Amino acid sequence: MPEIRPVTKENWEALIDLNVRGDQKDFVASNLYSIAEAQFGEDFEGHWDFHPYGIYDGDTPVGFLMYGHNFSHPTQQAFIIRLMVDEKFQGKGYGRFAMEKMLEMFRADERIKEVGISYEPNNEGARKLYANIGFVETGEIVEDEVVAVLKLRS
Ligand SMILES: CC(C)(COP(=O)(O)OP(=O)(O)OC[C@H]1O[C@@H](n2cnc3c(N)ncnc32)[C@H](O)[C@@H]1OP(=O)(O)O)[C@@H](O)C(=O)NCCC(=O)NCCS
Repeated sequence: MPEIRPVTKENWEALIDLNVRGDQKDFVASNLYSIAEAQFGEDFEGHWDFHPYGIYDGDTPVGFLMYGHNFSHPTQQAFIIRLMVDEKFQGKGYGRFAMEKMLEMFRADERIKEVGISYEPNNEGARKLYANIGFVETGEIVEDEVVAVLKLRS
C-alpha cells in the first residue's frame, strides 16, 4: 500500500532526484523548486501555507505532491499545487492514490469547502485523472493554466 510522508531533512535529497519524462517537463516544476517554494508559501488573495510530501511505496520514493491551505479564502480553502510521479513509476496508480489521499485529508477538515487545482491546457493525462475524481473546470485561466474545482461541502 503506498503512503505519503512529509518532506524532511532526511528525505528531501531523495525526492529531488525524481523526474518526469522529458516531454512532461513543461507540466510541472522540479521537486527542488517546489521544496524551496514550500518554505515561504505564497500571497495570493491571502496567505497560502504550502505542504510538500513524498509519495512512497514502502521505502521507495515514487513521486511528490504539494498542497496549499488558505482557510480565509472565499472559495477554495485548499489547492493542489503540485503532483508528479517519477517516469519509472507512472501508470501504476500512484497519482490517483495521491489525489485520493489528499482529498481524504481535506474532507476531514471542516474548514475546507472547496479544493482547486490547475494544469496546462494540453496536459491530457492530468485532465483525465482530475475529471475522473470529480474536478470540474471553471473556465478560468490562471497563469496560463486551466482551473478546476471540487466542492466538498457547502
Ligand atoms: C499525471 C501523473 C501525476 C499521473 O500519475 P500516474 O501515477 O502516472 O497516474 P495513475 O497510474 O494513478 O493513473 C491515474 C489516471 O491518470 C490518467 N493518466 C495518467 N497518465 C496518463 C497519460 N499519459 N495519458 C492519459 N491518461 C493518463 C488515466 O486516466 C488514469 O486513469 P485510470 O485509473 O482510469 O487508468 C503523472 O503522469 C505525472 O507525473 N505526469 C507528469 C507531471 C504532471 O503532469 N503533473 C500534473 C501537473 S498538474
